[in-house]
Amino acid sequence: MADTSGFIGKPVIRVDGVAKVTGAARYAAEYHTEDLLHAVAVSATITRGKILSIDTEAALAVPGVVHILTHENRPDTARWDLSYRDMVGPPGHPLRPLYDEHIHHNGQPIALVIAETFEAARDATVLVNAQYDVEAHLTDFAVARASAYDPPKRRMGIKPPQPRGDPQTAFATALVKIEAEYHLAAEIHNPMEMFAATVILDADGVFNVYDKTQGALNVQFYLTQVFKLPAKKVRVIAPYVGGAFGSALRPQPSVYLAMLAAKALKRSVRVTLSRAQMFDLSCRPETLNHIKLSADSTGKLTSIHHHAIGHTSAYEDHQETVVNWSGLLYQCANVDMGYKLIKLDTMSPGDMRAPGAAVGVFALESAMDELAYALDIDPLDLRRINYADHDQNDDKVFTSKALRDCYDQGANAFGWAKRSSAPRSMREDRDLIGWGVAGGVWDAPYSPVPTRARAELSHTGHLTIISGAADIGTGTYTIATQIAAETMGLPIEAVTVRLGDSKDPFAAPEGGSMMAASVGSAVQAACQKLQKALFKAARDLPDTPFKGRKFKEVAFRDGQMIAGDVAVPFTDIMTAVERETLGVTATVLSNYLSTQKYISYAHTAVFAEVRVDEDLGVVRVTRLVNAVAAGRILNPRTARSQITGAMVMAIGQALHEETLTDHRLGRIMNHNFAEYHIPAHADVIDLDVIFVDEADTRVNPIGAKGLGEIGIVGTAAAIANAIFHATGRRMRDLPITLDKVLYSDG
Ligand code: MOS
Repeated sequence: MADTSGFIGKPVIRVDGVAKVTGAARYAAEYHTEDLLHAVAVSATITRGKILSIDTEAALAVPGVVHILTHENRPDTARWDLSYRDMVGPPGHPLRPLYDEHIHHNGQPIALVIAETFEAARDATVLVNAQYDVEAHLTDFAVARASAYDPPKRRMGIKPPQPRGDPQTAFATALVKIEAEYHLAAEIHNPMEMFAATVILDADGVFNVYDKTQGALNVQFYLTQVFKLPAKKVRVIAPYVGGAFGSALRPQPSVYLAMLAAKALKRSVRVTLSRAQMFDLSCRPETLNHIKLSADSTGKLTSIHHHAIGHTSAYEDHQETVVNWSGLLYQCANVDMGYKLIKLDTMSPGDMRAPGAAVGVFALESAMDELAYALDIDPLDLRRINYADHDQNDDKVFTSKALRDCYDQGANAFGWAKRSSAPRSMREDRDLIGWGVAGGVWDAPYSPVPTRARAELSHTGHLTIISGAADIGTGTYTIATQIAAETMGLPIEAVTVRLGDSKDPFAAPEGGSMMAASVGSAVQAACQKLQKALFKAARDLPDTPFKGRKFKEVAFRDGQMIAGDVAVPFTDIMTAVERETLGVTATVLSNYLSTQKYISYAHTAVFAEVRVDEDLGVVRVTRLVNAVAAGRILNPRTARSQITGAMVMAIGQALHEETLTDHRLGRIMNHNFAEYHIPAHADVIDLDVIFVDEADTRVNPIGAKGLGEIGIVGTAAAIANAIFHATGRRMRDLPITLDKVLYSDG
């Protein structure tokens, strides 16, 4: 038999890799059935107001067009706002597409053209003609800034801590201080797989919904509420997701509209959104940070002020944890933090990879760099001087924190000791060279709501693991396979993992970097329970070789149950007990008592090298080293992919990505990849990831911290700090496009 142990921590190749590269893995828009209808949404061309009338006559005359849905002829849906609130939606009034005549943002769906072919539907959309009563809109952050407000209802867990100490006096009397504003543009998630939903109505009247989602159970919950259907009539299936980064946490209009059409016509329907339409779904909010830092002459922080404003829509209060990180990353007795919102007539922003931290920690870590220069202390040393040994926001103990090792090992790998400290002091040919550093921090949550997994052993000795959790490209299939194979003592090939189906055991949407730890622990628990069930079945057999044995004396290895010199293959036990399959389900949940005392974060130290051609304004990120402390690394191969993917995204955040809105129209104008720039291969030169050892027995049963988001936190700050070191000019407005490098004085 092949290896049956030591899988956890090994770079096991993605178990879904072959299916993905051969096309066997199917995505939401790739499910087919006979008589499938194709639908394309018509988007509002105004930003705020009311639809007076919609003329669909010409569009209906297009050959192949079957029907056009608008707010005037849609089927009945739930009346109350609350029915449209999904498991992760923020406080407010969720958008109800095609519900009534009101327009809340440019690009809002106002009609759905349904046709025999995608092409006919798409062609007909341009013939749908809406008349509007246009109302004045506001999309300009700078104008709205004056009306920042405290959200009346806080999203769970997102309240900034109360001030501590006396930050005002400490700042006023400090020897060294800095004060600055840091602004970040709104970004769009832009996953590779586009949003789509295929609803296949079967003979039993069940809506089988193939959707692009991070949470099949969340979409099922939403659809049953909105369409007033029992759970058994709606099955949501999302085995493969081509990236999402938070954009598929909430049910998107594609799935709502596909269900609407399927219900109206009692037919199977697919809705696919265009890339341009995906710019009207969700975004990382535009964010402004105001930071003040002060220190004594030794570099010890004497005060931290961090106040941020993020944008939200007119109809919901999307909120993020932007400032709280500033109260826990460094030791400081005097801290003042605040977080407000402004309302713009845009779609609701949503969570995007490390929501809040990706913007707030950029500001803090840029400010720390500014303070380091004001103090004439090495920026890495400044961070060491202010190391925090416990969480001062909540007065809790870290389950583990190996950030010092990140500083040391990252600096070594990067060669930080060879840095010449003065700005503009490193040069090669035409290029100024800069080296910058920043820290990163992100939550390491563990199953705050129950996470369930099922383990089923067949009589052939094959193990199937089943959970409603998602794998959005992160590697969940692979780590679940490793954990199951190692726990049961089976080879990798003897394990199959099934994910992403709403009829399977409950798991929260894959988000917040909690899935590996949560579903991983659930899989381990299910396998341990299966071991017990198998042992009990074997021990209860007449003539059992395990007579008088206790469970704790038994090992599971090489597909066998072993006690002393007795070793019986699982298949023999299954045959003896006459079972086709033996299955158990386990549930895990974070321990409330433990979370009162302990808190868990993943940490990083990120080092960046840039080359800046000041004549052309071109910045190249020539090297990035990211040293990560995230507990036990379940699979260094998929883990590295998580971090490098986030580092690439951070290059985009630092240098390229921004929505550009024409405020006269209230419309995002660069809604395509020609004009909204994401990093290309030429922008990604040399990425290095180091995982430092971090043993953590308290964070969760498998000792792992999530890795989906931490890689982006701090990385843009390291790049901006490197640009300052290269040029002597501080860039406080992301992205740092070449016009800013040419003309801005910071
Ligand atoms: Mo993540 S932004 O929680 O999908």
